[in-house]
Order: sequence, then structure tokens, then C-alpha cells
Amino acid sequence: MPSMKAIRIHAYGGPEVLMYEDVARPAPGPKEVLVRVHAASINPVDWKLRAGFLKDYVPITLPAILGLDMSGVVEGVGLDVKGFKAGDEVYAMTSMGRDGTYAEYAVIEEMNLARKPKSQDHIRSAAIPLAGLTAWHGLFEFGDLKAGQKVLIHGAAGGVGSFAVQLAKSRGATVAGTASTRNQSLLRELGVDQPIDYTKSAFEKAVTEVDLVIDTIGGETLQRSWGVLKKNGVLASTVTDPKSPNPALTGKHIANRPNAQGLKELAALADAGKIHAIVESIMPLSDARKAHEISQSGHARGKIILTAA
Ligand SMILES: NC(=O)c1ccc[n+]([C@@H]2O[C@H](COP(=O)([O-])OP(=O)(O)OC[C@H]3O[C@@H](n4cnc5c(N)ncnc54)[C@H](OP(=O)(O)O)[C@@H]3O)[C@@H](O)[C@H]2O)c1
Repeated sequence: MPSMKAIRIHAYGGPEVLMYEDVARPAPGPKEVLVRVHAASINPVDWKLRAGFLKDYVPITLPAILGLDMSGVVEGVGLDVKGFKAGDEVYAMTSMGRDGTYAEYAVIEEMNLARKPKSQDHIRSAAIPLAGLTAWHGLFEFGDLKAGQKVLIHGAAGGVGSFAVQLAKSRGATVAGTASTRNQSLLRELGVDQPIDYTKSAFEKAVTEVDLVIDTIGGETLQRSWGVLKKNGVLASTVTDPKSPNPALTGKHIANRPNAQGLKELAALADAGKIHAIVESIMPLSDARKAHEISQSGHARGKIILTAA
């Protein structure tokens, strides 16, 4: 049986449980596609899974290959796959609870796969799926953002936030965003109309009458955000289910999921030059421990990418 390199965990724990090892190359089921992974991205959920923080909600069978998104080339397809063939350049966010994308090959359900943006290489394409879809769902599904509205994005320099800024601008919204001092110029480059340095000033002094807050931070940042919303405003958080203190305001928990149609639309926006990934670091699969440490610091700038080919 052919083998491949992969990052697996055999037990929950710190970054040291990430093992770079030889494992059997997976084979696709009837409605699945085998992809040669060129690049996979790190998402905070990866280290939360690794640490066992989510084990009561997301059952995984150990040993498990981590990683929830990737960009690569189709190697082979299952018997019932109609939409893809060997050689297609694809990207995907995969379902949880199955072996993931920190590997040279990954099996992806056909329904979760889309053609990658033509204008972006595998590294920049791999950065998009999970973070881009989260931003997409948060702004347009949970937040119902419309042209001309005002949105405040917390964590605007992070994986989700950097896409949320660009997507909100592409929809014609006015964007305020928070980040620390070192990321203020990045916020301006991304198109933030009102960059706020949360280490120097309270965001609620700088921004009011907001239609939508996208919160990727939680805690006190989330609690203080209720005060900047206008009547009928929405606070959508990626980290918790926010309980509104006021019947005129709505709290929503952004629950992301794989969405091939969303990936097609994100690829079209990337090819139209409306969105692009901010990639902080690119490292080989074998450096997954270092990649997790950076992500777990809570101060990654944009995305961290593992390359597998
Ligand atoms: N529910 C879901 O479906 C879903 C989906 C995706 C993500 N998430 C969760 O959402 C969170 C964000 O994900 P992500 O991928 O965007 O994470 P990330 O890329 O690791 O976010 C890091 C960013 O957070 C910023 N930050 C840290 N403290 C901040 C503060 N007090 N105010 C403003 N910005 C601050 C940092 O900017 P500075 O360095 O400038 O401080 C950094 O750029 C994670 O907890 C993740 O697990 C949930």
C-alpha cells in the first residue's frame, strides 16, 4: 500500500503531540476525491482540537490527521464522482471528524470541493476556505450586511478578520476594524475605513451607530461591543453564542460549515481582485508544531500555511 507523510496526533495535548510520520495513503469512497495536497492552512480550531478542548462536541478517532482546509490537485476520484477529474486544481474546507489535510494526500467529499481561484497559487488558495467562508457566513448569512451599512470587525488582522474586511468592502459597506499597533498599516492596506488600535484607544469611543459587529475575540471585547450598535443592530461572534442585553439588539453565533458554493463565489472574488489572502508564514508540513505555537499566541497576522509538495 502506498504511504505518505502526514501530521497526526495519537493523544490530546500540547504542540508536542503533533507527529510527522509515514501513514497509509487514503483511498476515496464512491463520492469522494483523492487530492494531492500542495498547501494546508492552520486555523485556531486545529489547536483547540489538538488540545482536547472540543472533544465533547467533535468526536475524533485517534490517531487522527488534523487540518480542515487545503489547496491541491486531484489525483483520483471515486466511482460516483462526476464533477472532477485527475489534474483539476481544487480547494476545500473539509468536514470535521474525519482525517484532515495536514498530509501529502487527503480524501475530500466531492460536495465540499471547488476549483481553486485561477489567479492565486496553492499557498494563497489554501488560506481561503475556512477563514473566508467564516467571514462570508458571518457578514452575509448571519449578519445580512447590505451596501451602505457600517460594520465593526474585531480581530481585523487575523485569518477571519482580514477576509471579513475585504468582503465587507466588496459589498459596499463602511468598515471599522480593530488590531494592535503593528497591524494598523495592514488594516489600511486591506481597506479598513476606520482602523482602531485597541492597545491605545477604546473602540467604543471611536465608533458608534454600527449595523453589524463581527467579533472574533470574545470576552470583554464582545461585551463592550453591544454599546456601539444602533437599534436593531446585530453582534455576530465566531467564539461564543452572544446573549443580547437589550431586546432591540440581536446576538448570533457564527457556526461555519463546508460550503462549495461559497468557495466558488470566493474564488470568483479572488479572481476579480476583490479579496486576497494575507499570509504571515509558510512552512513545511514537518514544522506543524511551530505553526501551532504561532497560531496559539492569538496574534497571527493573516494566515499560516503548511506546504506539502
Ligand atoms: N465558529 C466558527 O465557525 C469559527 C470559524 C473560524 C474561526 N473561529 C474562531 O474565531 C477566532 C478567530 O479566528 P481567526 O482564524 O481569525 O484567528 P487568528 O487568525 O488567530 O486571529 C488572530 C488575530 O486576532 C487579533 N487580536 C488578538 N487580540 C485582539 C483584541 N483584543 N482586539 C482585536 N484584535 C485582536 C490579532 O491581532 P493583533 O496581533 O494586532 O492583536 C491577530 O491578528 C478563533 O477563536 C477561532 O477558533 C470560529
